[in-house]
Amino acid sequence: MTIQRVLTGVTTTGIPHLGNYVGAIRPAIRAAAQQDTESYLFLANYHGIIKCHDPAMIAESTQAVAATWLACGLDTERTTFYRQSDIPEILELNWILTCITPKGLMNRAHAYKAAVQDNLNNGQEDQDHQIEMGLYSYPVLMTADILMFGAHKVPVGRDQIQHVEMARDIAQRFNHRFGKELFTLPEAQIDEQVELLVGSDGRKMSKSYGNTIPLFQTPKQRQKSVNKIITNLKEPGEPKGTDESPLFDIYKAFATPQETADFARMLAEGLAWGEAKKMLAAKIGGELDAFTETYTRLTANPAHIEDILQAGADKARKQAKELLLRVKDAVGIRRLGV
Ligand code: ADP
Ligand code: TRP
Repeated sequence: MTIQRVLTGVTTTGIPHLGNYVGAIRPAIRAAAQQDTESYLFLANYHGIIKCHDPAMIAESTQAVAATWLACGLDTERTTFYRQSDIPEILELNWILTCITPKGLMNRAHAYKAAVQDNLNNGQEDQDHQIEMGLYSYPVLMTADILMFGAHKVPVGRDQIQHVEMARDIAQRFNHRFGKELFTLPEAQIDEQVELLVGSDGRKMSKSYGNTIPLFQTPKQRQKSVNKIITNLKEPGEPKGTDESPLFDIYKAFATPQETADFARMLAEGLAWGEAKKMLAAKIGGELDAFTETYTRLTANPAHIEDILQAGADKARKQAKELLLRVKDAVGIRRLGV
């Protein structure tokens, strides 16, 4: 039996939302439950400090993201669950990979290109105005995360496909340049049922945009968040298309194909937006309410979460140290006289 290694991370810049859940957390936990799989799930807090310069938020988010993984059913016996910053070897690998990554590859990264485009749109003469090196080279750090544990599959939302392709490209370059098959070539794993979810302001649902539906809410709070999703002015009874509001894609991410088809038919038959929103909130609650109590209990006991993370770091570091030694040797960083 060949073992498939699955790895993914979530940045610690806010409270996890439905997009994080359907794009990364749910598929990763499902994959981790497969017999022939080894999984690595982590809190990307060094990625967090790229986008968020608020220390209190980074710390609060670290706890929230960890509690979310655990509440959603991550099995810490079978999964290596850790915080990126507890594995300093990742940063050493990050530098070694930086030294073989073409600058042109980073010029093409979406996050950097979007920041440049913002500057151009705002009439800035310097296209790199206020863009930090962390943002520019963040795909290299993500590559180090992935290659360090030899991941075959990386469950991510569609916005991260490019970064996983870059990781593959960099792995190939390294293997080729140093004549050693040290790195496994990773592949993004995308859930076909799940689109990139859109937030209440019409942009990608993201912790960085404050436009999210959080995972853990009371039914009343959830209904309120769902009610903010944009729709158009069509009246009850008027036929509605599935592309007229982001709520359809969110429903689809939580429903079976049959339920999704029924929902599309009901919209076409004139279902009122208000009713559609009630159905959506109930559908989300049906999956997440069962996890809410565990989430609340875990959040009240950060020391317990910390113990779990430390145990995960011990496991992960052992493996990371071994690979790093081989990578350093490959590039000529070795002890003398041995
Ligand atoms: P955010 O943009 O909220 O900070 P992250 O960058 O931490 O999210 O992403 C963590 C994981 O969640 C990634 O795999 C990403 O692709 C996925 N993800 C983030 N937002 C969405 C979304 N709106 N729809 C689907 N998946 C998403
Ligand atoms: N950059 C990813 C994001 O913003 C989070 C992340 C960091 C990640 N390292 C990773 C995802 C490694 C998968 C694998 O969504």
